[in-house]
Amino acid sequence: MSQAASRSNEPLIHHWMPFTANKQFQEAPRIIARAEGVHYWNTLGEQLLDGVSGLYTTPAGHGRREIREAVTRQLEELDYAPAFQFGVPGSFRLAHELAQMLPEGLNRVFFAGSGSEAVETALKIAIQYHRVRGQGQRQRLIGRARGYHGVNFAGWSVGGMVKNRDAFGLGLPGVAHMRHTHIPENRNVMGQGEHGGIDLADDLQRLVDLHGADTIAACIVEPIAGSTGVLVPPKGYLERLRAICDKHGILLIFDEVICGFGRTGHAFAADAFGVTPDILTMAKAITNGNIPMAAIAVREDIQQAILDAAGPDAVEFFHGYTYSAHPVACAAALATLKLYRDEDLFARAAALTPKFLERIASLADIPIVTDTRGYGLLGAVDLAVDGSAGKRGFAVLRRCFEQGLVIRVAGDTVVFAPLFITTEDELDQMFALLRGVLKTV
Ligand SMILES: Cc1ncc(COP(=O)(O)O)c(C=O)c1O
Repeated sequence: MSQAASRSNEPLIHHWMPFTANKQFQEAPRIIARAEGVHYWNTLGEQLLDGVSGLYTTPAGHGRREIREAVTRQLEELDYAPAFQFGVPGSFRLAHELAQMLPEGLNRVFFAGSGSEAVETALKIAIQYHRVRGQGQRQRLIGRARGYHGVNFAGWSVGGMVKNRDAFGLGLPGVAHMRHTHIPENRNVMGQGEHGGIDLADDLQRLVDLHGADTIAACIVEPIAGSTGVLVPPKGYLERLRAICDKHGILLIFDEVICGFGRTGHAFAADAFGVTPDILTMAKAITNGNIPMAAIAVREDIQQAILDAAGPDAVEFFHGYTYSAHPVACAAALATLKLYRDEDLFARAAALTPKFLERIASLADIPIVTDTRGYGLLGAVDLAVDGSAGKRGFAVLRRCFEQGLVIRVAGDTVVFAPLFITTEDELDQMFALLRGVLKTV
């Protein structure tokens, strides 16, 4: 695939692109012009395979007619109504449907526009919950190294990415981190590793011992850390976090922006691992990536405590976004959830999982591959650093694109998150292409 294949006709300098090497991109652009099913097409009409479901957003397939029609109908009926002090029908239906799908007890749903907003919302709910119960000193937030919780201030502060600290400095005060869960003892394991679960989770207890439980509002983790390269929790880890939170009155937040909606073969990772958080954030696949939307589910008693603390006409939770529960996003989400049900797509993800993980594991024989891992339809391959960190990963991303495959890289880690409708043949094509590329970098 030539570079010209990916060019747009417009000058490229005016759009400052997110999480992108802008200077490099302008020299060798990668423009995706069309999508359907598991495929993209560039501006010359050349086809590419989608190995990451958009950006973990689009597991039901690109270009789904059912969602498009629901969005069109909604735009014809009601394009927008004020989100504060007024409601739209779709949001109540959607919240009700989500409450049926979510783990038992998580049945109050707040809406936002992105995963980052969902995280800020979840953390603010946690802090206010403690304040209305007379525990306003619980302000501290616990995150984890190599966590990713979006780009806003609280989110990147509880997240554990070094580059955020390099670029933006101190972040929020009162934040502490546990160690990440990617340890050498669990190398080349598909599913949950045997080692380290209890000790790593006991970092939370160590932070409690250091700071005092009565200063800690919440502990936030991705059940499987996605953006830093698919870090699967070792056995016992999430259970232990749950037990420590229970013991000390700390709210446990699962950030399921990537894991939610079938990625693990279950509706939520909380179901897959059998551990229920107090607050759960979701986004991305909630609308199959068609319209931006996010949601935050909380336990009923958490919401109730906040509602009860305010006077009858008062706004209880002083928070919201212009686009919270946007009617068009609600329509897209309702149509998406219907597709998940009608086509039993989470079961399809579960059925594809062993075939997918087998192929991830098969890459371990390549000399530059230093680890392979995965859970559900999330898989990662670590590559040995070649000179400077990230150089080899970026070369793989570019070569895969040139040869017709879209993947994600996190530094020198290649990440796959196939659509749930991917066939075994398509998996074979992806992995054969990647194997070829890995021989050249
Ligand atoms: C776990 C997690 N939380 C939050 C976010 C931020 O979501 P957004 O990019 O929609 O703001 C992401 C994005 O990948 C994520 O993976």
